Amino acid sequence: MKHLLKMLDLSTEEIIDILNLADQLKYELKHGIPHPHLKGKTLGMIFQKSSTRTRVSFETGMYQLGGYPLFLSSNDLQIGRGEPVQDTARVLSRYLDGIMIRTFEQAEVEALAEYGSIPIINGLTDFCHPCQVLADLMTIREIKGSFDGLKLCFIGDGNNMANSLIVGCLKVGMSVSIACPNDYQPPKEILDFAAEYDSFEITDSPVQAAKDADVLYTDVWASMGQEGESEKRKKAFAGYQINDEIMSVAHADAMVLHCLPAHREEEITAKVFEEHADEIFEEAENRLHAQKAVMVKLMA
Ligand code: CP
Ligand code: NVA
Repeated sequence: MKHLLKMLDLSTEEIIDILNLADQLKYELKHGIPHPHLKGKTLGMIFQKSSTRTRVSFETGMYQLGGYPLFLSSNDLQIGRGEPVQDTARVLSRYLDGIMIRTFEQAEVEALAEYGSIPIINGLTDFCHPCQVLADLMTIREIKGSFDGLKLCFIGDGNNMANSLIVGCLKVGMSVSIACPNDYQPPKEILDFAAEYDSFEITDSPVQAAKDADVLYTDVWASMGQEGESEKRKKAFAGYQINDEIMSVAHADAMVLHCLPAHREEEITAKVFEEHADEIFEEAENRLHAQKAVMVKLMA
């Protein structure tokens, strides 16, 4: 594994290896055992979109690993004034040991990897959010004990989160059901991947998708960059919500995850959110551990 660009690139074994290392790093952190695997290394973090979790967990994680994180806002980089990503990749490769990038186009992340000579980590694009899904898988395994026989149901937009969950969960052996409006299905590349699995289902009915689910997952109706469509999306996604009715058809011990930030009373009710807050914030914490594992695998 040279980069983390999308879940489609990872083998099941690579995913499990990252999760095992993440568990170990979490244990070591909780027990005060130092783990300076990246002593003296630097990570550049390019942000073309906002972030709370990704920025703070990468920055803190790099520090805990003995390395140095640089926050690079695209407003301040020449990339924001049109310097090609191909040139940025070749310049930054001469200063840094790794790059984390959050941007719009998946092609930009792939170009950084193609033209640069250091590991590239995708910190979210419009297409996918692999770091989030590694933390989600870590959280599911931590709470449920294993992936065996589990069904994850995603309700909402066929967006970066849906795409990454479909691929990640199917690769570790879970069943996946997706409920989204017909006009907001995941892209063909993801549906083609999922079509290879009998354990995948897509429907426009949230209740049908949630039946017997062990993990319920949702995300905002309008992602970063889609703010102008929020009113249209509010109408399209009305009813695509995790609420008591959805919980009543899932397994009684079903867990609820949300990548955050959450919009209460849109994709999830405040009641369900608060009832499952322990799981959701463990998930947020696990971003730190999962990304540290990714950085160690790629940069140590
Ligand atoms: N879930 C997530 O990636 O959060 P941020 O946008 O705050 O980084
Ligand atoms: N789908 C959301 C995820 C945020 C972590 C977005 O792209 O804004």
